[in-house]
Amino acid sequence: MNSIIPPYTWPHIDDSLRSAVDRQLGVSLSDRDGRGVIGGFEAEFAQFVGSRYAIAFSSGTAALHAMCVAAGLGPDDEIIAPAYTFFATATPFAYEGVKVVFADADGFGNLDPADLPNCLTEHTKAVIVTHMWGNPCDMTAISTFCRENGLMLLEDCSHAHFASWAGQRVGTFGAMAVFSTNQKPITTGEGGVLVTDDDRLRELALLHGHYNKRCFQEIDQSAPHYQYALTGMGLKSRASTLGAAIGLDQLGKAELIESRRREVLAAYIEALDGNPVVSPALVDPERGQSGLYVVGLRYHQEAATETLHEFVQRLDRQRADFDVPGSTNVIANEPLFHRSSRQQPWTSVPEVRPATYPGAEAFIRSFFKTPLWGYPGDEAAVAHHVAALVNTTKLVAR
Ligand SMILES: Cc1ncc(COP(=O)(O)O)c(C=O)c1O
Repeated sequence: MNSIIPPYTWPHIDDSLRSAVDRQLGVSLSDRDGRGVIGGFEAEFAQFVGSRYAIAFSSGTAALHAMCVAAGLGPDDEIIAPAYTFFATATPFAYEGVKVVFADADGFGNLDPADLPNCLTEHTKAVIVTHMWGNPCDMTAISTFCRENGLMLLEDCSHAHFASWAGQRVGTFGAMAVFSTNQKPITTGEGGVLVTDDDRLRELALLHGHYNKRCFQEIDQSAPHYQYALTGMGLKSRASTLGAAIGLDQLGKAELIESRRREVLAAYIEALDGNPVVSPALVDPERGQSGLYVVGLRYHQEAATETLHEFVQRLDRQRADFDVPGSTNVIANEPLFHRSSRQQPWTSVPEVRPATYPGAEAFIRSFFKTPLWGYPGDEAAVAHHVAALVNTTKLVAR
């Protein structure tokens, strides 16, 4: 980085965050029920999303695992998932033996509703979407498809804490949704939150990761699953109290984080207006609002003399933090989704015949991103990044 520009880190560690953690140190390092800081964080998070319930987990991956089990999905079932996403959207389903059928991506890297009919079989039970890099999926088309085919709709909102589609907050379209809170605009350090409006799904998800005291207190005693209250379903993936204290501090600043991030995004939109080489990768604002995870950018190779990778290297030499995503890629050909045995998959490693996903591959070829920053004092960093981007496009424009 430039000597005056610190590298991007998140969350912004200020006095209020330090004192929230310090206060929690004096209260509890582990909550066994929902009456302390974990319950407080969950109530605030549910309100933030606009859903009835939120349950905090140790990670977004653990929350997705609970979602799979609460949805009742198992080895005879299929779920349609995006071919392009961070792998944890789909890996918990593969772990449970659910067959994951992958749908191609649209121009924003999101699950393309036009590909859903090609993925549908008599075993399909659910669809999961990821709102990639904060751009909301076309939830009108996807919700309609799910309703017409009797499928459960699930959302991975890990990139989309502040996103909405047609005026409706993401995370409220389906039966359940998960938000990773690992280094996301609302963060708990490590963690994940499952949200739902459904009492039964909430209790089933609670059993998958929380047990004993909390389940005895919160599960309906007349429900058949109450008998599992002591043991849960065999796993523990509770959130940490210090993470919840951080999360509460962040939720208290949600309006500030959102307004600053929207300002930064607007600065990129303005600076790139009419730029032939790079444009913001944003859904039509009349249809959807960005979740403000990153600034997603599209590189127009036909208008440039260099490749995207060369362009990003040029930015890197100016100590500007732009990157082409790495571990978020086409996940459909990973062996985990093709193993023949759940117990000893290494005894016969599957020969994966790579399927192609032209929509996802086209998106990947042109997409890159940069942090949105979003706190008092970030002005110099944002200005440096915007200027570096615009000036570099001038150098490579045809
Ligand atoms: C789209 C998506 N889903 C799920 C996850 C998993 O969340 P976690 O890292 O909290 O387990 C991530 C993590 O970044 C993600 O980007």
